[in-house]
Amino acid sequence: MGGLYAKGEVLSMSNVKLRSGEIIPLEMHKTRMIQKLNLLPVDERLAKMREAGFNTFLLKNRDVFLDMLTDSGTNAMSDKQFAAMLQADDSYAGSETFYRMEAALQRLFGMEYFLPAHQGRACEHIIARTLVKPGTIVPMNYHFTTTKAHITLMGGSIEEILTDEGLNVHSDAPFKGDMDTGKLSEALDRIGNENIAFVRIEAGTNLIGGQPVSMQNMREVSKICRARGLMLVFDASLLADNLYFIKVREPEFKDVDINAITLEMGKLMDIIYFSARKLGSSRGGGIITSDPEVYSKMRELIPLFEGFMTYGGMSVRDMEATAIGLIDTLDMDVICQTPIFVEALCNELMAKGVPVVTPPGGLGCHIDARKFCEHIPQEQYPAGALAAALFIASGVRGMERGTLSEQRNPDGSERLAEMELVRLALPKRVFTLSQIKFVADRVAWLYENRSLIGGLKFTDEPKVLRFFIGRLDAIGNWPETLAERFRVDFEGSL
Ligand code: F0G
Repeated sequence: MGGLYAKGEVLSMSNVKLRSGEIIPLEMHKTRMIQKLNLLPVDERLAKMREAGFNTFLLKNRDVFLDMLTDSGTNAMSDKQFAAMLQADDSYAGSETFYRMEAALQRLFGMEYFLPAHQGRACEHIIARTLVKPGTIVPMNYHFTTTKAHITLMGGSIEEILTDEGLNVHSDAPFKGDMDTGKLSEALDRIGNENIAFVRIEAGTNLIGGQPVSMQNMREVSKICRARGLMLVFDASLLADNLYFIKVREPEFKDVDINAITLEMGKLMDIIYFSARKLGSSRGGGIITSDPEVYSKMRELIPLFEGFMTYGGMSVRDMEATAIGLIDTLDMDVICQTPIFVEALCNELMAKGVPVVTPPGGLGCHIDARKFCEHIPQEQYPAGALAAALFIASGVRGMERGTLSEQRNPDGSERLAEMELVRLALPKRVFTLSQIKFVADRVAWLYENRSLIGGLKFTDEPKVLRFFIGRLDAIGNWPETLAERFRVDFEGSL
């Protein structure tokens, strides 16, 4: 490894090689609208972090230099998406816009019925309310925060069935999001069909580092579910990156048309849902299925919780942009963007010795905070502390994905996360290579000075999804010490 750029075979735009043989993340688009950025001096960054209760969610974006919190609703949109927004049909019922979004989804997955919802978690709410009964279990490759919260809210619980490689932070397994089908069959036997609400696959798999699921695994899981008459639900929020990885890491699909892959997925799954803040690079969400029975059950909930059947809480303008964005998912030049930039950032960091999740996945570069901050106990939120320290050192806003993002056990004790990660998300087509280099430089500096980073403790801890709005304080005055070291080392540079 080493070096900024990807080596080896990559498909599509990155087939453009430098004379050195390196493959550069060359943008097959140009920037025609920009947003000015502001990098505050280190003292102000420290003050803003304190004001935000050491929670990067509570920072104001005006104080952030590079917002790598998430790709949710922050992917760049194309001229075609903006153009489509102008033709949005504002009718409350029967809007033409609905039929265009429906047609895009039908083309993508070949499924018949589409239910609109205001975002991904709204889909999760509708699905959980329809299928989860108290005491039932949802086996899945891995949970996402909002998914688990909605299943628990309905009285259900989850069981995670990854392959052993899945939780191995440093690995070279190409599909760490895969389910262990042996363990799945064993779990289904143990739990019994009647106690299973549905089986869920999330691809890519967010909380383990945007790691992909293979088509082969989807086929096997689907076969197991079909044989037992169990519903298979597919969270396609991170599908764009996952499609890229199927193309480049699963030899069978190298020359297969992307639409043929998505259509096969449609055949394997019973319900597909997604956050259009991610898939489709717009805002909103949706559920699709070909099962008339489950469709009619879920349909009843849409007007109650979301909005009328033909907009489901979304703005029609966003629905138009989503329809175009969904079809863009079939374009390798679009979907290779994030994975190639993630790989570039990970390679640069690894060259400097910084521990990151490997192999690089989709969504963003994931720093292994447990290793980075070995000296901080998990109860003091090493990943949260690292995210706060990185903002102080750089103005870069990342997201904690570790113990802070967990819910406490029913007895009030901490549920220690299996991984302590800081995610530096790479929204599609937003950042440039020079910005990536800047990030790598500041993270590497922080790594050299990691012993200065200390822990965090809650001062205000909400009961549900505490990471969104909870406030914390530093244990000791490490943020001041860190800022002081920055001033000395960077001598007047921001
Ligand atoms: N499923 C996955 C895999 C997600 O990544 C998200 C959101 C959701 C469901 C919920 O969708 O936000 O539209 O309600 N992930 C965002 C993130 C929040 O930053 O990773 P939503």
